[in-house]
Amino acid sequence: MYGIINKSIEEQIIENYGENKWIEIKANSGISEDFFISNDVYDDEVTYKLIKSISNVLKISTDLVLFNMGEWWILNTTHKKYAGLIKSGGKNLKDFIINLPDFHNHIMLMYPKIIAPEFKVTKMSENEILLHYYSKRSSLQEFVRGLLSGLGKIYQTPIYIELVQSKNSSYDHDTFKVSWTI
Ligand code: HEM
Repeated sequence: MYGIINKSIEEQIIENYGENKWIEIKANSGISEDFFISNDVYDDEVTYKLIKSISNVLKISTDLVLFNMGEWWILNTTHKKYAGLIKSGGKNLKDFIINLPDFHNHIMLMYPKIIAPEFKVTKMSENEILLHYYSKRSSLQEFVRGLLSGLGKIYQTPIYIELVQSKNSSYDHDTFKVSWTI
């Protein structure tokens, strides 16, 4: 994955737990990188090793690590670095989710080597959507849950996210039921 993802993880840990914890997490992870460059592509293993190490060192589940990563990505990394892009994603939460299937097409212009996730939207009603998440990677469902939760905060809209079908159970993608109060 592009280094910006690993950098975002690093920033979140340093901000919330301090520099020393980050040094401990990096040493425990077994990765050889000292720092990350946003526009360089790193092996996915680097990210997975960091996630595992954060879980070990902070004694929290990998699901929670992923969720925190997702919220931080939206609320801090992208909201600060690409505020315009996030804003142009939709005038409200529902709009943003409806536009999500096309969102990474714009990102590809900035990060041409991206292996982007794919989203599809079905069964839409006024305050509920089924969001289908397809990825070439595995085990990132809770990252998506954190991303959606972060979007809910940006749009100041309470959001409820339920994983109704999981890729793990011999299904080719994950499906989330996303609802919100209007
Ligand atoms: C300005 C905003 C955003 C930028 C710049 C961005 C960029 C990226 C980049 C660089 C990656 C790493 C993938 C790679 O290097 O191959 C990534 C992954 C990912 N992004 Fe985004 N993204 C943004 C917003 C979003 C939003 C709003 C969502 C969904 C709610 C999302 C969902 C994901 C997911 C699920 C992955 C993990 C990759 C996978 O599933 O295979 N991103 N994004």
